[in-house]
Amino acid sequence: MVLQWYPGHMNKAKNQVQDRLKLVDIVLEIVDARLPFSSRNPVLEQIIDQKKHIIILNKSDLADPKVTADWKLNFEQEGTKSIELDAKHNKGLGKIKTLIRSELSEKIERYERNGVKNYQIKAMCIGIPNVGKSTILNRLVGKNVAVTGNKPGVTKNQNWLKTNIGIDLLDTPGILWPKIDDPKVGMKLALSGAIKDKIYEPDDVAIYALNFMETHYMDQLQETYKLDKSDIFNHTTPELLMTLSQKFGYNDDYDRAARRIIDDIRKLKLGRVTFDVPGEFYEE
Ligand code: G4P
Repeated sequence: MVLQWYPGHMNKAKNQVQDRLKLVDIVLEIVDARLPFSSRNPVLEQIIDQKKHIIILNKSDLADPKVTADWKLNFEQEGTKSIELDAKHNKGLGKIKTLIRSELSEKIERYERNGVKNYQIKAMCIGIPNVGKSTILNRLVGKNVAVTGNKPGVTKNQNWLKTNIGIDLLDTPGILWPKIDDPKVGMKLALSGAIKDKIYEPDDVAIYALNFMETHYMDQLQETYKLDKSDIFNHTTPELLMTLSQKFGYNDDYDRAARRIIDDIRKLKLGRVTFDVPGEFYEE
């Protein structure tokens, strides 16, 4: 595995989050709705558990809505509220304010009981790269803001942003790398585009994806690529990749076929797909 969450990175990110926790009332943890498990960072989860926090399932326009509903239920059962969002098309942002206010209702009532008028709710967004933090921040702030946390090696001051939903947002801390102990998590992150394509072999990612589609989204797979049952049954997934390569007219350029499949998935040609299934992460 080329990409590693080095202990140094981990500690730095952990400390940055921990330092800022005391400055905010609530943490908005942003995940990719296609990967509500794989795009979370378990190390950060432990820290933010000390604080009120909500999960934002962003890119919900790309995810399977049925599975998104299952994930929301799953998080709720674990005691964490979540909402789905499509920041790219500006859908669902109003729900963030409602949920924050409901999560902080005791505090808000206390302020109001004590006649505190200009209280300001303070929040911090965290999430691994590519889950859509900048897009969300830009929507909430109403203009383009550079998310300092996305740039490696930049020393930065804490930066408060005024939002149009009446909360002050602390700029996201340094780069919060994903944690990849399980190679499947790496495959899924590569498939979503969160990990640079150079790091993984496209055929590994495509075979992983085809295998997942065969198990969970067989109809979508068959329809999109006009596959017969005989193309799928009694064949291994690498054989299916070869069949598809022939169908695409790429002959034995399996790398090209693999890249096409990955691209098709990212562009929704195979429909909305969620690659993390609640309770099944280790079985696919
Ligand atoms: P980051 O700060 O967490 O690293 O993520 P960023 O906002 O830069 O978003 C990463 C990519 O994800 C961007 O695409 C962005 O447009 C896209 N994105 C963000 N939110 C959503 C969403 O809710 N739905 C969808 N479908 N996409 C979303 P990009 O390819 O880098 O740029 P572009 O396509 O916008 O030009």
